[in-house]
Amino acid sequence: MADIRLEGVGHSYDGGRTWAVRPTTWTWRSGRAYALLGPSGCGKTTLLNIISGLLTPTEGRVLFDGRDVTGVPTAGRNIAQVFQFPVLYEEMSVYDNLAFPLRNRRHPKKDVDRRVREVSRLLGLDPVLGRRSRRLDPGRQQIVCLGRGLVRPEVAAVLLDEPLTVVDPALKWTLRSKLKEIHRDTGHTLIYVTHDQTEALTFADEVVVVNEGAIVQAGEPAELFLSPAHEFVGHFIGSPGMNVLPAELAGGVVRVGGTAVGAGGELPEGPVRIGVRPEFVAVGGAPASPGAPARVTGVDRMGAYDLVHAVVGDHPVIARTEAGAGYAPGEAAFLHFPADRTFLFRDQVRCGSLAPLSEGGAG
Ligand SMILES: Nc1ncnc2c1ncn2[C@@H]1O[C@H](COP(=O)(O)OP(=O)(O)O)[C@@H](O)[C@H]1O
Ligand SMILES: [Mg+2]
Repeated sequence: MADIRLEGVGHSYDGGRTWAVRPTTWTWRSGRAYALLGPSGCGKTTLLNIISGLLTPTEGRVLFDGRDVTGVPTAGRNIAQVFQFPVLYEEMSVYDNLAFPLRNRRHPKKDVDRRVREVSRLLGLDPVLGRRSRRLDPGRQQIVCLGRGLVRPEVAAVLLDEPLTVVDPALKWTLRSKLKEIHRDTGHTLIYVTHDQTEALTFADEVVVVNEGAIVQAGEPAELFLSPAHEFVGHFIGSPGMNVLPAELAGGVVRVGGTAVGAGGELPEGPVRIGVRPEFVAVGGAPASPGAPARVTGVDRMGAYDLVHAVVGDHPVIARTEAGAGYAPGEAAFLHFPADRTFLFRDQVRCGSLAPLSEGGAG
């Protein structure tokens, strides 16, 4: 296992016109389980292929425990990679497929058998160990690929590129918890690529969020939820995502339309955007600071909770309230934006918090 460091790593497929991965510096720490989360086309596979050596980056260096491997091919990097769709030896048995990476590296026969059986048991492959891989459905074949990725105890890292795409949804949950179990057992460094926030949040110790070829924030699931550092993280994580309100900061006061909603602290004057998750917006009958007068436009009854849709001026805001809170379309209400959960953004990046207005400070 190794710390994997990317130093100014960037990649362009078109001779530098556009970046699939913008120059990035980042370290994957040995033994951790990471999710690499972002929408389709944001550069996840490119990043993974740079780590495994399938791709040489246009710029920057890749270091394994300080050793420069930028020019070293995949075979010399001691990496296991699982792709989105099954890649295995179809004419071989499941057992032989699982054993292949170990035999290939001349592990003793006894160790091969022990390890294959461990992985097979964990992934529920025992009933099909003797079967030819070709005879399995694609979901099962992919589980064999997972097994092959996890079978070598000494790899520097296991890279998984949306590995559960072809697997039945019901089985996904089970496999993900198996993966966690195997991770706890082996202490592999795992990098699990997905575009699905639930998959990322339930799997990883640390979630690395990518947008348009750049890492915009990395952290534990709770941190990304409670304290988004970038508007994209606010939108992409959470359901519904973070509310964003365009505002103007002048004389220390943040206004939406003409209405003072809070204080902007020491930030320079100019346009800002207020970000607050629906979970933290409180709806009430009395003014509160920071907060704003609003009009309710609709209510979604979700069963366990309600989503109250409102407008502040022309700007939509969603609040998550307890079920049956009783708000109705057309009703006037005050929205409260708690100071510790309401952030200010500029150029999509968090730059401060929305503070309460002091007495008479509303000007
Ligand atoms: N082999 C390639 N040649 C040219 N462009 C590519 C190639 N692979 C990916 N891209 C482009 O690079 C960007 C990032 O792609 P990719 O890393 O596959 O994203 P993701 O895995 O997050 O969906 C996309 O705009 C994609 O179209
Ligand atoms: Mg991809």
